[in-house]
Amino acid sequence: MTDWNTLLDGVRVIPVLIVDRLEDAAPLAETLFGAGLGTLEVTLRTPCATDAIAAMTRAAPEARIGAGTILHTAQWDAVKKAGACFGVSPGHTETLLNAAEAAELPYLAGAQTVSEIMALGERGLKLLKFFPAARIGGPGMLKTLASVLPDIAFCPTGGITAENVADYLALPNVACVGGTWIAPPELVNTQNWPEIAKRARHAAGL
Ligand code: 3PG
Repeated sequence: MTDWNTLLDGVRVIPVLIVDRLEDAAPLAETLFGAGLGTLEVTLRTPCATDAIAAMTRAAPEARIGAGTILHTAQWDAVKKAGACFGVSPGHTETLLNAAEAAELPYLAGAQTVSEIMALGERGLKLLKFFPAARIGGPGMLKTLASVLPDIAFCPTGGITAENVADYLALPNVACVGGTWIAPPELVNTQNWPEIAKRARHAAGL
């Protein structure tokens, strides 16, 4: 199974994408990949999300496209068939953890409490999604977690913006961050690729 270092390939920002129209998937992937962001998360929050993953893997074959907002076990097979190379959930359940293992895809499982983080660490997951980061303590909470759970790294998402992203990335236990601010639906739906490319270039340089 591909490890997270390979999946991230040095990039510390993962655009979280909500694709409403399939026709936007390919130019969106090309724009983000061209601007230096090679690891993308397509959330399963729209009807065309799985097809969007397939279209993006065709448009930017060197990009690492993952599926986000995985809530149901059957989604693992569907996104794997579409070409996703990792999966993400806002939280986690036992059945989702088992399904991720069965699908043999890296899983960025979400955790919110110290006990959840410890349980996932015991299970061998060393990079976790910390969501919704800004609402569950933000950088201050992550700093506290670093002192008690130094072996666990996080990908905070939820409330990360161009203004506060540096506060998160400065922390020793933050491997990467994710967020919609780079390519929010209002920019994707108006096909504002130049503005998305500008935001992506800034994020890629962080
Ligand atoms: C996620 O799925 O990680 C969140 O929707 C991202 O939250 P944001 O819109 O605040 O970036």
